[in-house]
Amino acid sequence: MELKQQAIEILRHNDRGGYTVPTASGLYPAQWNWDSCLVALGLAQFDEPRAVVEIETLFRGQWPDGMVPHILFHGDDSSYFPNAAVWQAGPTGRSSGITQPLVAATVVRHLFERSSDPMIRARLTALVAKLLVSHRWCYAARDPYGTGLVSIIHPWESGMDNSPVWDDALAAVEPGPSVAHLRKDTGFAANEHRPTGPEYNRYINLVIKFRDNGYRADRLYEISPFRVADIGFNAILQRANQDLHSLLAAIGDAAGAEEVAAMEERTSDAIARCWHEEDGFFYGVDTRNGAVIRKPGIGGLLPLLADPEVTARQPRLLQRLDSWLTRVTYGVPSFDPGRPEFEPQRYWRGPVWLIVNWMLIDGLRRNGRPDLAERIRRDSLALVERSRFAEYFDPLNGAPLGGSKFSWTAAMYLHLAAD
Ligand code: GLC
Repeated sequence: MELKQQAIEILRHNDRGGYTVPTASGLYPAQWNWDSCLVALGLAQFDEPRAVVEIETLFRGQWPDGMVPHILFHGDDSSYFPNAAVWQAGPTGRSSGITQPLVAATVVRHLFERSSDPMIRARLTALVAKLLVSHRWCYAARDPYGTGLVSIIHPWESGMDNSPVWDDALAAVEPGPSVAHLRKDTGFAANEHRPTGPEYNRYINLVIKFRDNGYRADRLYEISPFRVADIGFNAILQRANQDLHSLLAAIGDAAGAEEVAAMEERTSDAIARCWHEEDGFFYGVDTRNGAVIRKPGIGGLLPLLADPEVTARQPRLLQRLDSWLTRVTYGVPSFDPGRPEFEPQRYWRGPVWLIVNWMLIDGLRRNGRPDLAERIRRDSLALVERSRFAEYFDPLNGAPLGGSKFSWTAAMYLHLAAD
């Protein structure tokens, strides 16, 4: 069967009615925030109305304070830890209590601009107010002192769970009791492709701390023992600000557009200040102690997505990307392959993830580098041709890693192949 057809079948098979699970195996039996948004890009290739439903379902889970949780538990979640019974979060008790990168506005704009169907456009327009509330929440809850950079309070919020970028900040978190016996992920994917035991104990200890504080947005920023203004998270947010601004302007909400323009301005200056002249790279900051995190993770390349002129101002950023690419067979590794922390098979410590490739491709095109964008697009398609729709891939040999028949890999394949 043709790969495109296989990708469509995976998305249909992982459809649970209104939302798509990341994979059917049981590894992730719920709706994940940024997975759903990115999956909508793939759904739009063959079923536009269904793509809109994916985002509508996600925003039905939005909390009264504006946060869109990183997981919505709609059905049987017994094969996952920590499931709804552990989180005990939100008004219905059926979600996690943290968020994930805010890509929704970027995807909604994309769907809005590609559709000529007035019904689709009307439904997307109805989502714009909710998007605005979620961006407002993000700044109020995670940048209460107005620095222009928002902080994440859990590595899971970055979407790049075990990146070496979090190592130091996470080491400062008490491990709490061991949860090795409660983990279910390692029953679905190889141990050495997943986060380690000490990491997991700390992930869960953070969850317990947030639960004990009632997940109150006004409390968590202060009490979280993990707090990082991640460059990747902020770059994705900044791009989403631009897309939200454009949507608000398109639907004639001038006040909303002005409000978002102010967010954009603050964050644009703040991201520019994350440039590390000596290392020639963008880094985030540990906002608990003010330390710059000098770990070259792929988030440091994401200002490409947010700023169409970043390569003109910081041409060394592309030299870094080039040097990463010369060390691997398939780009782009999630961490600098020249560093000792690089592990080509362990989750976010080195493997290639197609969703991030898509962000880089988009950013490189906006930065006037279609040649480099094309190289990454070709690598992405080649990975699927070689290893099908794996969760992530080994950048050295292209081997499939993690779960299989992954929704967002299928979606990115459809989106990139159609490009
Ligand atoms: C893992 C990934 C995260 C993703 C989730 C579901 O936790 O790190 O980015 O959203 O799985 O696929």
